[in-house]
Amino acid sequence: MARKIIIDTDPGVDDAMAIFFALRSPELDVIGLTTVFGNVHTDLATTNALRLLEIAGRTDIPVAKGADDPLAGPFKGPVPFVHGDDGQGNANLPAPRSRPIDQPAAAFIVEQIMAAPGEITLVPIGPLTNIALALRLEPRIAQHVKEVVLMGGNALCPGNATPAAEANIHNDPEAADVVFGAGWPVTMVGLDVTHQVNMTPEHLARYAASDDPLAQHIARIIPHYRAYFERANPGMRGIYVHDSSAIAYVIDPTLFETRQWPLRVETQGVSRGKTWPAVGTGAEQLPAAWRNRPPVNVCVGVDAERLIALEAGRLT
Ligand code: BDR
Ligand code: CA
Repeated sequence: MARKIIIDTDPGVDDAMAIFFALRSPELDVIGLTTVFGNVHTDLATTNALRLLEIAGRTDIPVAKGADDPLAGPFKGPVPFVHGDDGQGNANLPAPRSRPIDQPAAAFIVEQIMAAPGEITLVPIGPLTNIALALRLEPRIAQHVKEVVLMGGNALCPGNATPAAEANIHNDPEAADVVFGAGWPVTMVGLDVTHQVNMTPEHLARYAASDDPLAQHIARIIPHYRAYFERANPGMRGIYVHDSSAIAYVIDPTLFETRQWPLRVETQGVSRGKTWPAVGTGAEQLPAAWRNRPPVNVCVGVDAERLIALEAGRLT
């Protein structure tokens, strides 16, 4: 039976790829999209989620609008230089005809998990605000969720939003620290692996050559995003595959190598948003901040070519 997932998302070019990848994967049953600020403001994230479902012919899937701001303080603003002014590579998409449901994202998440204990997997691919708010609303979701598989964080490597921090975690470190500490099964698919998954222009050409409408949308929104990566990383060709890597983990965890560590998120100073796994200390000298924290399943290795082929096989 297909695994029921809720994707919490800030679409976003790579979010669009991830959503389409999930929709085209028979192993998954996408029962809702919830939206959050990050790559764009939440209103535009919601508009984009609706547009993407229209392109995919899946307006049967509900979209629930989420938080406009992080738990502590206002949203610092979108990243048009990465994802375009519209979050979709400046593709100038028409306005959607469909509308979000009236229920806020956190309430939708709670209702779905409590109605189907042990069945729902959360796949957050944006800042973790909605997930922390859902835990606040109903802490028992921690016992009733099947699994949380999130894109975010950097365990043993530098960040991308800052030298210290990855963008999703940097956008709401307080929420991330709650999510990593909630005592539910969490897998972190962070930059440790997504920076190993490089879709080259040759890989991307498959999307451009396909007449599938989802592949065509991807091919249309990629150029702006790719140009950012190539400016930011001299010598790089193509893009890193962030959000689709979380979808790939849910479909086939054997693509990844993982380690289990208690993990804290820095909320202060220049390292704000850095995810710190308890690496390098034995259990008897574990500092208090990491003690009594549950282990997080952290992805540290990936079979990148197999992942890229899996996604292209579904979408081209
Ligand atoms: C994450 O930040 C966003 O730009 C992407 O959509 C992805 O979720 C990568 O750090
Ligand atoms: Ca995202």
